[in-house]
Amino acid sequence: MSARPMDLQALITDPETRIVVCCGAGGVGKTTTSAALALAAAEAGRTVVVLTIDPARRLAQSLGLTELDNEPRRVDVPGAPGELHAMMLDMKRTFDDIVAAHSTPDRAQQIFDNPFYQTLSSSFSGTQEYMAMEKLGQLRASDQWDLIIVDTPPSRSALDFLDAPNRMGRFLDGTMIRLLMAPSRAGFKFASAGFLLFSRIVSKILGGQLLRDISAFVAALDTMFGGFRERATATYELLRRPGTWFVVVASPEPDALREASYFVDRLSAEGMPLAGLVVNRTHPPATAALSATRAEGAAEEVLETGGAEATFVAAALRVHAERMTQAAREQHLADRFTSAHPEVAVRTVPAAAGDVHDLDGLRTMAAELTGADADTPTGTPRTRILPARRA
Ligand SMILES: Nc1ncnc2c1ncn2[C@@H]1O[C@H](COP(=O)(O)OP(=O)(O)O)[C@@H](O)[C@H]1O
Ligand SMILES: [Mg+2]
Repeated sequence: MSARPMDLQALITDPETRIVVCCGAGGVGKTTTSAALALAAAEAGRTVVVLTIDPARRLAQSLGLTELDNEPRRVDVPGAPGELHAMMLDMKRTFDDIVAAHSTPDRAQQIFDNPFYQTLSSSFSGTQEYMAMEKLGQLRASDQWDLIIVDTPPSRSALDFLDAPNRMGRFLDGTMIRLLMAPSRAGFKFASAGFLLFSRIVSKILGGQLLRDISAFVAALDTMFGGFRERATATYELLRRPGTWFVVVASPEPDALREASYFVDRLSAEGMPLAGLVVNRTHPPATAALSATRAEGAAEEVLETGGAEATFVAAALRVHAERMTQAAREQHLADRFTSAHPEVAVRTVPAAAGDVHDLDGLRTMAAELTGADADTPTGTPRTRILPARRA
């Protein structure tokens, strides 16, 4: 079964498209894909900002992101009719900004000085996802951008991007913390023996000082604004609005494609719009005219003729045989995904010779993604084929 081709050029140039979120397992190429799509959109005339998360150093440098500054910076793209802006998420700064915006300077300082806040804002699992959504909400609210491309944090599971903000919102709204503090408070003196034991163990693990810190922090937040969960919910809703599209990225590996599969199911369950799947870093053979078996056979025959040249030719034939085998394996995995999700449009992007870390590399990748150079199956019109949006 062959997959429907995904038309990313149509997607990113459509004025109705305002947000594109690139999701997927760790290390598959989300950051690179985000930057390449943003470049393509700027070259097509749009004013675009890419919110990157933890880009590799050389890629960050080529986008002019030499330090975390949490604000979009214009990237010079000679000859582009549009504008490319890039920023790198600074989760602690984003968190600090929220606190500062909702508090008096004194109170904000109290929170900043709190050791629990310092841990929470810089290393708590879920903070990065929460702050990525928060930043997306801010960028969207500024209405300064035709298109916002969002890279997602390097979590193990792609689903974390959708789940972590809510989890974090619930946590910050204090439900769990209040429960932990409950036995010491009046009104909760009837808490069950089991719960008391549980909470004593948690206090031991976390340490009394940390619990006092948390308590002070939550008290400060409570009086400030009680709405971390509401904020998370509001941004989550943004992802379901018309104009937002998800692009799922995977490598041609079983784990990454399984992760993509979960994510696709989840998007559909949530009524979130999926543009399609990018299978990144594939290894198409130089030619498909010679099969792996025949190349192996030919290598044997050539070797029998003897001589230095024969060794060389045989080696080349063997490399070809390996490429053919790898390509077949990758195709098999992609086909398996497509039989499970026939409705999902797919675009394959071959592995570049080296890492993608400059504008030229991004441009090549963009061409593969948008189909300017890529091999669209013959006879397939390059129309915009997107799954119907669920009501
Ligand atoms: N098509 C490609 N060809 C070659 N290298 C690639 C390609 N896509 C991504 N890379 C490289 O793979 C590495 C991981 O990519 P990255 O975008 O950082 O992944 P993620 O954001 O999903 O963790 C980077 O070094 C990047 O340059
Ligand atoms: Mg990344």
